[in-house]
Amino acid sequence: MRKVTVVGAGKYGSTTAEKIARMDLVDQVVMTDILEGTPQGLALDMNQARPVEKYRTLVVGTNDYADTAGSEVVVITAGSPRKPGMSRMDLLTVNAKVVKSVTEQIIQHSPEAILVVVTNPLDHMTTLAAEVSGLPKNKVMGQAGILDSSRLAHFISEMSGVDIFEVEALTLGSHGPTMVPVPSQCKVGGKSLEEVFSAEQIDGLIERTRGGGAEIVGLLKTGSAYYAPSSAAAAMVEAILTDSGAVLPVCAYTSGEYGVVHGYLGVPAKLGANGVEEIVELPLTETEMAALHEAADAVAANVAELHNVDYS
Ligand code: LAC
Repeated sequence: MRKVTVVGAGKYGSTTAEKIARMDLVDQVVMTDILEGTPQGLALDMNQARPVEKYRTLVVGTNDYADTAGSEVVVITAGSPRKPGMSRMDLLTVNAKVVKSVTEQIIQHSPEAILVVVTNPLDHMTTLAAEVSGLPKNKVMGQAGILDSSRLAHFISEMSGVDIFEVEALTLGSHGPTMVPVPSQCKVGGKSLEEVFSAEQIDGLIERTRGGGAEIVGLLKTGSAYYAPSSAAAAMVEAILTDSGAVLPVCAYTSGEYGVVHGYLGVPAKLGANGVEEIVELPLTETEMAALHEAADAVAANVAELHNVDYS
């Protein structure tokens, strides 16, 4: 039986579970949460959509990690989202405890799983899950780059009027202030960003993308974005389950690529049945490369804080 687990039945977790189920690639999507009744109720609702949507995958809502046993891929969404005015780093201590505990329980039941972390602060929670799980680094990754790239593509399309399918965008680096938009890899209707926009407009697009999550948190007032984030997480799961070899921007463990010595960072990676099959080194401009190194340093500095958290 093919099984995927989504930990957390909040908005991000439940929309991710539903999107994976609709792909019809596995027998079960197990959705687990500490809240009693929530994952069960949401699963029942989703399953009743199957005859209309025409897929077979069953969503199993549970509070018991035993039901997650034998999962091929586990998406970790558990933890608190931001409130208006908070940075993702403000969540470090509270979410580190959650991610550590979840990872321990997941690994106990699915020692071979590939982990896709989405809990914030993303780069740090991915690092923590890798450390706690003891899994090979290629089997632990985080979701951010697909979302940030997708946000940038949306803003480019909106500002230029060019069809969204004709826009390519890429962001690397961290899921935070040191996010690295990569203008040299962006295309608008076959043209470069510089051919379509002024320098001020490009700066505006980049700034809006960096603050893309906070803009939505500010509007919603409670909770953070989940439609585009869950699409991004589900796309990673699809690439792994189908062994597609798709090259996607993800938070992956770098060991020398892009001149980054060791650590989790948003980079383009080929995803397949083994998780991160390869980190793909694109030709970046000097400015982009410098920004990527700055992001790596910023993440590394904050990772040190993970070891000061009181996990007891
Ligand atoms: C965001 C959160 C999910 O960027 O990190 O919307």
